Amino acid sequence: MEKDEQLGERKFDRMLQIRTVGLREWRQQTDNYNRYEATPYAALEKLFRSYTVKPTDRVVDFGSGRGRVSFYIHHHFNVPVTGVEMNDKTYEEALYNKAVYRQKNKHLHAPIRFEFGLAEQYQVEPEDNTFYFFNPFSVTIFKQVVRNILRSVEQEKRTVDMILYYPLPEFKKFLKKETPFKLINKIKAHSDHGKYGKFLIYRLA
Ligand SMILES: C[S@@+](CC[C@H](N)C(=O)[O-])C[C@H]1O[C@@H](n2cnc3c(N)ncnc32)[C@H](O)[C@@H]1O
Repeated sequence: MEKDEQLGERKFDRMLQIRTVGLREWRQQTDNYNRYEATPYAALEKLFRSYTVKPTDRVVDFGSGRGRVSFYIHHHFNVPVTGVEMNDKTYEEALYNKAVYRQKNKHLHAPIRFEFGLAEQYQVEPEDNTFYFFNPFSVTIFKQVVRNILRSVEQEKRTVDMILYYPLPEFKKFLKKETPFKLINKIKAHSDHGKYGKFLIYRLA
Protein backbone atom coordinates (compact mmCIF):
# COMPACT_ATOMS: atom_id res chain seq x y z
CA MET A 1 0.00 0.00 0.00
CA GLU A 2 1.32 3.48 -0.92
CA LYS A 3 2.26 5.86 1.92
CA ASP A 4 -0.45 8.38 0.92
CA GLU A 5 -3.03 5.68 0.99
CA GLN A 6 -1.93 4.53 4.45
CA LEU A 7 -2.33 8.11 5.67
CA GLY A 8 -5.81 8.16 4.13
CA GLU A 9 -6.72 4.93 5.93
CA ARG A 10 -5.63 6.36 9.27
CA LYS A 11 -7.46 9.60 8.62
CA PHE A 12 -10.78 7.72 8.20
CA ASP A 13 -10.07 5.62 11.30
CA ARG A 14 -9.50 8.82 13.27
CA MET A 15 -12.70 10.32 11.92
CA LEU A 16 -14.68 7.27 13.07
CA GLN A 17 -12.63 7.00 16.31
CA ILE A 18 -11.72 3.38 15.62
CA ARG A 19 -8.61 1.29 14.93
CA THR A 20 -8.93 -1.05 12.01
CA VAL A 21 -5.68 -0.70 10.05
CA GLY A 22 -3.38 -3.74 9.71
CA LEU A 23 -3.60 -7.47 9.26
CA ARG A 24 -4.12 -10.48 11.50
CA GLU A 25 -2.92 -13.80 10.15
CA TRP A 26 -4.05 -17.06 11.73
CA ARG A 27 -1.32 -18.64 13.85
CA GLN A 28 -2.10 -21.91 12.15
CA GLN A 29 -3.01 -21.74 8.50
CA THR A 30 -6.57 -22.87 7.76
CA ASP A 31 -8.10 -23.60 4.37
CA ASN A 32 -11.54 -22.37 5.30
CA TYR A 33 -11.02 -19.19 7.30
CA ASN A 34 -9.15 -16.20 5.89
CA ARG A 35 -7.03 -13.59 7.66
CA TYR A 36 -8.14 -10.17 8.86
CA GLU A 37 -7.66 -7.28 6.48
CA ALA A 38 -10.09 -4.38 6.26
CA THR A 39 -11.84 -3.26 3.09
CA PRO A 40 -9.94 -0.14 1.95
CA TYR A 41 -11.79 3.04 2.86
CA ALA A 42 -11.21 4.32 -0.67
CA ALA A 43 -13.16 1.32 -1.95
CA LEU A 44 -16.01 1.89 0.53
CA GLU A 45 -16.21 5.51 -0.61
CA LYS A 46 -16.66 4.33 -4.21
CA LEU A 47 -19.20 1.68 -3.29
CA PHE A 48 -21.48 4.06 -1.43
CA ARG A 49 -21.36 6.66 -4.18
CA SER A 50 -23.53 4.34 -6.24
CA TYR A 51 -25.07 1.92 -3.73
CA THR A 52 -27.63 3.36 -1.34
CA VAL A 53 -28.50 1.92 2.04
CA LYS A 54 -32.15 2.67 2.84
CA PRO A 55 -33.34 3.64 6.34
CA THR A 56 -35.27 0.35 6.50
CA ASP A 57 -32.23 -1.82 5.73
CA ARG A 58 -30.44 -4.00 8.24
CA VAL A 59 -26.91 -5.03 7.46
CA VAL A 60 -24.82 -8.07 8.43
CA ASP A 61 -21.05 -8.11 7.84
CA PHE A 62 -19.96 -11.75 7.75
CA GLY A 63 -16.38 -11.85 9.05
CA SER A 64 -16.49 -8.31 10.40
CA GLY A 65 -12.94 -8.15 11.76
CA ARG A 66 -12.25 -4.99 13.75
CA GLY A 67 -15.51 -3.60 12.45
CA ARG A 68 -14.49 -1.09 9.80
CA VAL A 69 -17.39 -1.80 7.41
CA SER A 70 -19.92 -2.02 10.24
CA PHE A 71 -18.88 1.36 11.69
CA TYR A 72 -18.65 2.98 8.28
CA ILE A 73 -22.18 1.93 7.31
CA HIS A 74 -23.61 2.75 10.72
CA HIS A 75 -21.99 6.17 10.70
CA HIS A 76 -23.13 7.09 7.19
CA PHE A 77 -26.63 5.61 7.18
CA ASN A 78 -27.63 5.17 10.83
CA VAL A 79 -29.14 1.71 10.21
CA PRO A 80 -28.83 -1.41 12.38
CA VAL A 81 -25.62 -3.32 11.69
CA THR A 82 -24.39 -6.68 12.97
CA GLY A 83 -20.83 -7.91 12.59
CA VAL A 84 -20.01 -11.60 13.01
CA GLU A 85 -16.40 -12.49 13.83
CA MET A 86 -14.79 -15.76 14.88
CA ASN A 87 -11.31 -14.60 15.92
CA ASP A 88 -11.43 -13.83 19.64
CA LYS A 89 -8.69 -11.16 19.62
CA THR A 90 -10.13 -9.43 16.57
CA TYR A 91 -13.60 -9.56 18.10
CA GLU A 92 -12.28 -7.96 21.31
CA GLU A 93 -10.75 -5.18 19.21
CA ALA A 94 -14.13 -4.57 17.55
CA LEU A 95 -15.75 -4.32 21.00
CA TYR A 96 -13.11 -1.83 22.12
CA ASN A 97 -13.73 0.17 18.94
CA LYS A 98 -17.44 0.08 19.64
CA ALA A 99 -17.03 1.45 23.17
CA VAL A 100 -15.06 4.47 21.92
CA TYR A 101 -17.25 4.94 18.82
CA ARG A 102 -20.44 4.91 20.88
CA GLN A 103 -19.09 7.55 23.24
CA LYS A 104 -18.49 9.86 20.28
CA ASN A 105 -21.64 9.06 18.32
CA LYS A 106 -24.45 9.18 20.85
CA HIS A 107 -26.69 10.91 18.30
CA LEU A 108 -26.78 7.77 16.10
CA HIS A 109 -29.56 5.68 17.56
CA ALA A 110 -29.50 2.59 15.34
CA PRO A 111 -28.05 -0.48 17.08
CA ILE A 112 -24.58 -1.71 16.20
CA ARG A 113 -23.52 -5.04 17.58
CA PHE A 114 -20.80 -7.64 17.19
CA GLU A 115 -21.38 -11.35 17.62
CA PHE A 116 -18.53 -13.67 18.44
CA GLY A 117 -18.86 -16.88 16.43
CA LEU A 118 -18.94 -18.57 13.08
CA ALA A 119 -20.69 -16.87 10.20
CA GLU A 120 -22.09 -20.24 9.10
CA GLN A 121 -23.82 -20.55 12.48
CA TYR A 122 -25.27 -17.05 12.52
CA GLN A 123 -29.06 -17.11 12.88
CA VAL A 124 -30.25 -14.88 10.02
CA GLU A 125 -32.92 -12.54 11.41
CA PRO A 126 -36.10 -11.83 9.40
CA GLU A 127 -35.15 -8.11 9.27
CA ASP A 128 -31.61 -8.73 7.93
CA ASN A 129 -31.59 -7.83 4.25
CA THR A 130 -28.09 -6.66 3.27
CA PHE A 131 -25.16 -9.03 3.60
CA TYR A 132 -21.54 -7.97 3.20
CA PHE A 133 -18.55 -10.21 2.51
CA PHE A 134 -14.91 -9.26 2.02
CA ASN A 135 -13.43 -12.62 1.15
CA PRO A 136 -13.78 -13.91 4.72
CA PHE A 137 -13.80 -17.64 4.06
CA SER A 138 -13.75 -20.48 1.54
CA VAL A 139 -16.55 -21.10 -0.91
CA THR A 140 -17.55 -24.15 1.16
CA ILE A 141 -18.38 -21.90 4.11
CA PHE A 142 -19.89 -19.27 1.82
CA LYS A 143 -22.33 -21.88 0.46
CA GLN A 144 -23.51 -22.66 3.99
CA VAL A 145 -24.03 -18.98 4.76
CA VAL A 146 -25.95 -18.41 1.51
CA ARG A 147 -28.15 -21.42 2.25
CA ASN A 148 -28.97 -19.90 5.66
CA ILE A 149 -29.91 -16.62 3.96
CA LEU A 150 -32.12 -18.45 1.44
CA ARG A 151 -33.84 -20.41 4.19
CA SER A 152 -34.57 -17.19 6.05
CA VAL A 153 -36.01 -15.61 2.88
CA GLU A 154 -38.25 -18.64 2.36
CA GLN A 155 -39.63 -18.14 5.86
CA GLU A 156 -39.91 -14.34 5.62
CA LYS A 157 -40.22 -13.18 2.00
CA ARG A 158 -38.21 -10.02 1.26
CA THR A 159 -35.69 -8.54 -1.13
CA VAL A 160 -32.12 -9.20 -0.05
CA ASP A 161 -28.78 -7.93 -1.36
CA MET A 162 -25.34 -9.46 -1.08
CA ILE A 163 -22.28 -7.27 -1.52
CA LEU A 164 -19.06 -9.09 -2.34
CA TYR A 165 -15.71 -7.33 -2.25
CA TYR A 166 -12.78 -9.21 -3.81
CA PRO A 167 -15.09 -11.71 -5.54
CA LEU A 168 -13.28 -14.91 -6.46
CA PRO A 169 -14.42 -16.94 -9.50
CA GLU A 170 -15.76 -19.88 -7.47
CA PHE A 171 -18.08 -17.57 -5.51
CA LYS A 172 -19.45 -16.02 -8.71
CA LYS A 173 -19.92 -19.42 -10.30
CA PHE A 174 -21.79 -20.77 -7.29
CA LEU A 175 -24.13 -17.75 -7.12
CA LYS A 176 -24.84 -17.89 -10.86
CA LYS A 177 -25.35 -21.63 -11.24
CA GLU A 178 -26.81 -22.69 -7.92
CA THR A 179 -28.79 -19.80 -6.47
CA PRO A 180 -31.59 -17.44 -7.55
CA PHE A 181 -29.41 -14.35 -6.85
CA LYS A 182 -28.95 -12.01 -9.84
CA LEU A 183 -25.89 -9.84 -10.39
CA ILE A 184 -27.21 -6.26 -10.49
CA ASN A 185 -24.08 -4.12 -10.34
CA LYS A 186 -20.28 -4.17 -10.58
CA ILE A 187 -18.23 -1.39 -9.07
CA LYS A 188 -14.50 -1.12 -9.75
CA ALA A 189 -13.00 0.13 -6.55
CA HIS A 190 -9.35 -0.46 -5.79
CA SER A 191 -6.49 -1.00 -8.21
CA ASP A 192 -4.13 -2.37 -5.49
CA HIS A 193 -6.26 -5.51 -5.45
CA GLY A 194 -5.92 -5.98 -9.21
CA LYS A 195 -8.86 -7.55 -10.98
CA TYR A 196 -10.42 -8.49 -7.64
CA GLY A 197 -10.52 -4.88 -6.41
CA LYS A 198 -14.20 -4.53 -7.14
CA PHE A 199 -17.63 -5.02 -5.62
CA LEU A 200 -20.30 -7.27 -7.06
CA ILE A 201 -23.85 -6.66 -5.89
CA TYR A 202 -26.28 -9.55 -6.05
CA ARG A 203 -30.00 -9.24 -5.44
CA LEU A 204 -32.80 -11.67 -4.75
CA ALA A 205 -36.06 -9.81 -5.32
C1 LIG B 1 -10.80 -10.09 5.08
S1 LIG B 1 -11.40 -9.79 6.72
C2 LIG B 1 -12.74 -8.64 6.42
C3 LIG B 1 -13.05 -7.71 7.58
C4 LIG B 1 -14.20 -6.74 7.38
N1 LIG B 1 -15.38 -7.40 6.85
C5 LIG B 1 -13.85 -5.62 6.43
O1 LIG B 1 -14.19 -5.74 5.25
O2 LIG B 1 -13.21 -4.65 6.85
C6 LIG B 1 -12.22 -11.34 7.06
C7 LIG B 1 -12.54 -11.60 8.54
O3 LIG B 1 -13.38 -12.75 8.59
C8 LIG B 1 -13.07 -13.49 9.77
N2 LIG B 1 -13.57 -14.85 9.54
C9 LIG B 1 -13.02 -15.83 8.78
N3 LIG B 1 -13.82 -16.91 8.76
C10 LIG B 1 -14.92 -16.61 9.53
C11 LIG B 1 -16.10 -17.33 9.90
N4 LIG B 1 -16.33 -18.56 9.46
N5 LIG B 1 -17.00 -16.72 10.71
C12 LIG B 1 -16.76 -15.46 11.18
N6 LIG B 1 -15.67 -14.74 10.87
C13 LIG B 1 -14.76 -15.30 10.04
C14 LIG B 1 -11.56 -13.34 9.90
O4 LIG B 1 -11.11 -13.58 11.22
C15 LIG B 1 -11.35 -11.89 9.44
O5 LIG B 1 -11.40 -11.01 10.55
